Amino acid sequence: MVRAVSRPLRDAIRRLEERSGGDRPQFAEDFARFAERHDLRGWEGWFSPYDDQIYEAVVSQIRSRDLVFEIGAGDLRLALRLAEQAQHVYAIEVNPLILAQALSRVGLDLPRNLHVICANALDFPFPSSISVAVLLMRHCHHFPDYVDRLEAAGCRRLITNARWRTHVEAIDLTMPPIDFDAVDEGWYACRCGATGYVGVGDRARERPAEVAYCPTCRVQRSSVV
Ligand SMILES: C[S@@+](CC[C@H](N)C(=O)[O-])C[C@H]1O[C@@H](n2cnc3c(N)ncnc32)[C@H](O)[C@@H]1O
Repeated sequence: MVRAVSRPLRDAIRRLEERSGGDRPQFAEDFARFAERHDLRGWEGWFSPYDDQIYEAVVSQIRSRDLVFEIGAGDLRLALRLAEQAQHVYAIEVNPLILAQALSRVGLDLPRNLHVICANALDFPFPSSISVAVLLMRHCHHFPDYVDRLEAAGCRRLITNARWRTHVEAIDLTMPPIDFDAVDEGWYACRCGATGYVGVGDRARERPAEVAYCPTCRVQRSSVV
């Protein structure tokens, strides 16, 4: 089902969607230097929009009293949809070229409750009032940093495709993860961003366990020490 949106919003989204593939800022000459300066690894700094189904999977979980923090907002097409649902949306995007284009296309249709920030989310202090964060970034290399900082800011939910990549999940940040060693059979998703299966496949249809200190964390930690 495609959610009904207001006319100005629909028009603004249409203008954003009309952009051609060739004018993507990640193809700008200096992008590699910019990405290095901002510690954007691999495809992390690439703007690539998702489809309506993915956006609907996110927006359908937003309540009218939510204060949303969207990390990596791209050209704001999701942020505009979020702003229709939530009380306030903070949309942070590191790439000024993407934002400049987007803001000129949205123009005076920019909603009052959408606060657009051009900054690196790795440096920016997360607002303490946020109730839910959105991170649509399949190639995210900083997932544990974001989770730690969202928890410290008191954020209660994280809606993301960064761990499973193929689909969107909502992580309840108020629920402490269980220790990885307590999982003897089934899928798991770790606070470090890793996912996997333990056992022989008997519980492949059950919900993944939310864990901490999985084998991937242990390898990462031992390489730091
Ligand atoms: C895959 S795009 C998704 C855009 C948008 N969320 C959407 O779904 O339409 C990811 C975006 O995150 C931005 N990004 C990556 N790392 C960032 C960071 N550290 N701070 C702010 N933005 C970042 C990229 O520049 C890119 O525009």
